[in-house]
Amino acid sequence: MAQLERIVILTGAGISAESGIDTFRSAGGLWEQHKVEDVATPEGFMRDPDLVLGFYDMRREALAKVDPNPAHRALARLESEFDGELLLVTQNVDDLHERGGAKSVLHMHGELKSALCTACEVRSPWDAPMGDRPPCPVCQAPSLRPDVVWFGEMPYQMERIYASLTRADLFVSIGTSGAVYPAAGFVQEARMAGARTLELNLEPSEGTHFFHEARHGPAGELVPAWVEEVLGS
Ligand code: OAD
Repeated sequence: MAQLERIVILTGAGISAESGIDTFRSAGGLWEQHKVEDVATPEGFMRDPDLVLGFYDMRREALAKVDPNPAHRALARLESEFDGELLLVTQNVDDLHERGGAKSVLHMHGELKSALCTACEVRSPWDAPMGDRPPCPVCQAPSLRPDVVWFGEMPYQMERIYASLTRADLFVSIGTSGAVYPAAGFVQEARMAGARTLELNLEPSEGTHFFHEARHGPAGELVPAWVEEVLGS
């Protein structure tokens, strides 16, 4: 730990579970109420834009009813107190890392509170429904879609993420099932480049055997304890 200079952290739905947001693959999770291909693909959007816009309007609205938990706050503390470089990458489209105090979060799967205009391709901060086809704040076309990465689309800022993974001393994966690539492959990328790798998850993920170390339990307990360890060392 004494040599620790560069950390990359990847978070997934599990870090927001204790805040009350369903994970994707849990019983009662989002994919169980809707087929993935209906609400999380460009084809689904073309087929039934009302369903898709309504689905994300509902998820955006639900953010107002949840709060960050001790895991989000612990990572924000690490961001502000860690002396080295830290890249916090999340697959989550919620804003709980930011509301927990994190200043710099890379949302590789986009954000509920952002709109992407399919006419001018500009992304704008967004905190209102889209179902009634509001105009794009930039070009005024009624062509907004949620700025979330759907299946078949390229996650954001992959070059920056891979550059950090290859330089990292430590890669930590928190609350993610390891079922969705490219994020599921980050552990191998980091490990091949020489990083130590740690999983913090409620249960063994699909890729748990790729990690040097895995700790299993709720993120609200594991993450603050790990942050304490890093800052205390
Ligand atoms: P998943 O729902 O696939 O996995 C969530 C993981 O969190 C599981 O391994 C759970 O065991 C774990 N978990 C649940 N509660 C937890 C807790 N309290 N503390 C710690 N861990 C807990 O969610 P993701 O891995 O984030 O992509 O899913 C990855 C991507 O799949 C999502 O970003 C989304 C989805 O398709 C897109 O929409 C592109």
